[in-house]
Amino acid sequence: MNGNALFLLETRRLILRDLLESDWPLVYALSREPLVTRYQTWFRLDGKPEVQRWLGALLSQTNRRQPRVSFNLAIVLKENESAIGWLGFGEPEDPTKGDMGFGYALVPSVWGNGYMTEAVEAMLDFAFESLNKESVYATCAESNRASARVLEKAGLVLVERWQESDDDFGIVEEHLCYRQERSEWARRR
Ligand SMILES: CC(C)(COP(=O)(O)OP(=O)(O)OC[C@H]1O[C@@H](n2cnc3c(N)ncnc32)[C@H](O)[C@@H]1OP(=O)(O)O)[C@@H](O)C(=O)NCCC(=O)NCCS
Repeated sequence: MNGNALFLLETRRLILRDLLESDWPLVYALSREPLVTRYQTWFRLDGKPEVQRWLGALLSQTNRRQPRVSFNLAIVLKENESAIGWLGFGEPEDPTKGDMGFGYALVPSVWGNGYMTEAVEAMLDFAFESLNKESVYATCAESNRASARVLEKAGLVLVERWQESDDDFGIVEEHLCYRQERSEWARRR
């Protein structure tokens, strides 16, 4: 993978490509949306300067590391080329849970069209086929039924649950870990 080339995956309706500095309005929109920040802590950013700093660091450090281990992508609708969300995957935060972790968010206006399931399925193919991962995982709050459903539809299996506190909201809630093993991915293909 060339360090300067724009990473890109294509699905039937979507382009998944490296985030660009010009995508800051997408990140800003996600950061302003309570339905997103309730569950996607990454986007708890305060105002445009913080969004631009966050994106700048992501692009100059995380996405640039070679060999490439982190992929922070914009999800773009082919039909009108609008950037509708973020999909991030790479080195696991908790290596005991799997070889690769991932997270995601879409602007609410496009929820319920199967876009995230389509994006996650393409990402899983890339992870197992091209990155040779043995297992891929994601975590979500149990109350985040849409996210858990995306993971189930993409073929991940519930493997662990625990309680976690969200200090910003002053709550403790049940969290779930979903995983897909290479053997299960190969069986589903
Ligand atoms: C989670 C998220 C990415 C889903 O994206 P999406 O493109 O709408 O997902 P899909 O359309 O592929 O699938 C959603 C599934 O959840 C189901 N769903 C949605 N809300 C639900 C609810 N309240 N209860 C049960 N199921 C629900 C949908 O019906 C659909 O399942 P189906 O195809 O069997 O009908 C989107 O809701 C989002 O960005 N949420 C905020 C950020 C977030 O939660 N990120 C994940 C953090 S772990």
